[in-house]
Amino acid sequence: MLRLALLTYFATAHAYLWPSPMLDELESLLYEITPGTSGMANFIQPCDTFSFASGGGSGPTGRSNAADWIRTAYHDMATHNIADGTGGLDASIRFAEEQARAENVGDGFANTLDVLAGFATRYVSIADTLALGTVMAVEFCGGPQIPFRGGRVDATEPNLPGVPEPEQTLDSHIATFAKQGFTQDEMIGLVACGHTFGGVQHAPFPDIVPELNDPNSTESVAHFDSTNTHFDNNIAIEYISGTTQNPLVVGFNDTTNSDRRIFGSDGNVTMLSFANSPELFASRCSELFARMLDTVPSGVQLSDVITPLPVKPSNLQFILDGDVLQFSGGVRFWNLTDNPNRVALLLWDDHLGGVHNFTLLSLLESSTSYPQGVATGYRFGDNSSGSGFLLDAAAGITNMRFMVDGKLEDQGGVGFAVQDAVVFTTTSCFFGNNFTAQFNVAVRKGVNVTSVYIETQASDSLGHITITETDFFSPDSTVAVNSAYSIWTVNLAESPFTRYVGAEIDGVKSSMALGLFSQLPALPSCPS
Ligand code: HEM
Ligand SMILES: *[C@@H]1O[C@H](CO)[C@@H](O)[C@H](O)[C@H]1NC(C)=O
Ligand SMILES: *[C@@H]1O[C@H](CO)[C@@H](O)[C@H](O)[C@H]1NC(C)=O
Ligand SMILES: *[C@@H]1O[C@H](CO)[C@@H](O)[C@H](O)[C@H]1NC(C)=O
Ligand SMILES: *[C@@H]1O[C@H](CO)[C@@H](O)[C@H](O)[C@H]1NC(C)=O
Ligand SMILES: *[C@@H]1O[C@H](CO)[C@@H](O)[C@H](O)[C@H]1NC(C)=O
Ligand SMILES: *[C@@H]1O[C@H](CO)[C@@H](O)[C@H](O)[C@H]1NC(C)=O
Ligand SMILES: *[C@@H]1O[C@H](CO)[C@@H](O)[C@H](O)[C@H]1NC(C)=O
Ligand SMILES: *[C@@H]1O[C@H](CO)[C@@H](O)[C@H](O)[C@H]1NC(C)=O
Repeated sequence: MLRLALLTYFATAHAYLWPSPMLDELESLLYEITPGTSGMANFIQPCDTFSFASGGGSGPTGRSNAADWIRTAYHDMATHNIADGTGGLDASIRFAEEQARAENVGDGFANTLDVLAGFATRYVSIADTLALGTVMAVEFCGGPQIPFRGGRVDATEPNLPGVPEPEQTLDSHIATFAKQGFTQDEMIGLVACGHTFGGVQHAPFPDIVPELNDPNSTESVAHFDSTNTHFDNNIAIEYISGTTQNPLVVGFNDTTNSDRRIFGSDGNVTMLSFANSPELFASRCSELFARMLDTVPSGVQLSDVITPLPVKPSNLQFILDGDVLQFSGGVRFWNLTDNPNRVALLLWDDHLGGVHNFTLLSLLESSTSYPQGVATGYRFGDNSSGSGFLLDAAAGITNMRFMVDGKLEDQGGVGFAVQDAVVFTTTSCFFGNNFTAQFNVAVRKGVNVTSVYIETQASDSLGHITITETDFFSPDSTVAVNSAYSIWTVNLAESPFTRYVGAEIDGVKSSMALGLFSQLPALPSCPS
């Protein structure tokens, strides 16, 4: 029932238009998942996975990445002040100053950032990876789907404190949640939703949890419920039935029994409803987790809910070789029904008014799956060379559409715009004597290209990805290749950093991945 309701909701939300660098990457992180082999889900499945056992200890630690990720997102968000719009989910928890606060005791935050920040890119913020981590942990460990929006912005300095602690009073907790934007009802819900995972560890909370000497919990974690690596309503069932072992309910020192005070604060009405209905608990948690993740500093604009694109081109690349453009890339279709006789076509328009089509090759090995759907990949090309197919350079390409089993996919008539104004060329080369490369790109004549530059990507001391631009020599030094393109060039030393080519076309900047240019010796040697 719940899944159906959510799927209907997801289906009516409209997808964004490709291309959109940030949303394209977030969509892949969310939906292109093969459990056990790639992506964030690999770090939380099986759900008792814990990557940081202390002292290389063997056996079940009692901890899990999933629990750490959810707690980290809450503590990062909990600095929000609804009155002045400061704080929120902005990855400020990555600053040592925040992690040193008593309200953020424990190593779970550093552990979480160790894994999740590695998924941040020039387009995806660390804060978005923290939010995605929570979505993954909940969805892949038995919980409901959580509608996900992108666009969180990383803080450049620590936020003010604001995370609740167990020894504080109920009134103070009500006030703290109100400051974060949550009512008392929502507070009860959010604490129960969070505490269906994990527990309290001895090391950071020796006054709440003693050494357990339990071979099944080598890090001495007293769990909130009996299914601590799985999303379910046992947190409520065990609380209501009086069998709970939750250390924040039945701890020997009542001062630190914050869950007991919070869960009972409405006369148990909310917890009773959760105990009676796993569906209600799941739908409430979906809603409250989404609210938690979408609590961001004022001024940050989040995207619409990201739904899987039905059709998504990927890794498009052009290489000019004389009078032909080698066009390579792929396309992913979402949740196609099985059809062994499928015909998938790429249709495209060229610059001269021509319309063409091409049969796509199935890429069975790239089929990926997700609990709610299956992704199927195809690549452009008509032989096994992997080099795509060849276009007449003068004709080029402006726009693509796809046709699968006779059904046209064109993003509601907009099509898939393709940029062949600035393309790589086979003439780039490497000078072995001084480890310098001559980078060449071909720029299409008649297109308003105002600048072309190499983008070098590095990471600053705060974990932010920075881009520096190095201009290509502009038109006065260009060399015509053919009637359609001329070459712009720049010499640059070998660099350990990832590089892209960027261009400003009709006043709009865009970038092209340039794997080729990060390993210069992979380029052919320059003619001497
Ligand atoms: C008054 C509010 C809250 C208090 C006082 C509180 C307190 C605590 C404490 C003391 C721990 C043990 C941490 C450790 O040993 O590392 C803990 C763990 C945890 N908390 Fe909360 N919490 C509160 C609200 C929340 C909320 C709203 C969420 C998420 C929605 C949440 C999610 C978690 C999770 C997932 C863990 C398990 C971490 C692990 O096992 O590594 N908590 N909480
Ligand atoms: C540890 O877990 C195993 C498997 O769940 C169980 O059979 C065993 O009794 C547990 N040991 C302790 C000391 O709780
Ligand atoms: C109970 O916890 C509070 C707060 O941490 C502490 O001040 C108090 O001494 C504790 N009481 C006992 C009996 O340990
Ligand atoms: C709520 O439920 C718990 C556990 O059954 C019980 O100990 C407590 O007295 C209840 N509180 C109220 C206000 O009914
Ligand atoms: C594909 O191109 C061929 C000719 O090259 C044409 O006969 C056919 O109608 C085209 N198919 C579609 C779906 O446009
Ligand atoms: C994917 O297809 C299956 C089977 O046709 C269907 O049950 C499911 O709802 C679809 N999922 C999405 C997200 O459309
Ligand atoms: C097929 O592959 C070969 C070898 O890589 C290549 O030279 C040729 O251009 C390809 N054919 C077409 C039509 O793309
Ligand atoms: C590297 O060597 C090539 C060929 O000898 C030369 O043309 C180029 O200017 C040199 N680049 C630098 C940065 O010294
Ligand atoms: C080219 O684009 C720039 C930036 O949008 C604009 O200022 C300029 O007028 C354009 N030039 C032509 C010839 O369209």
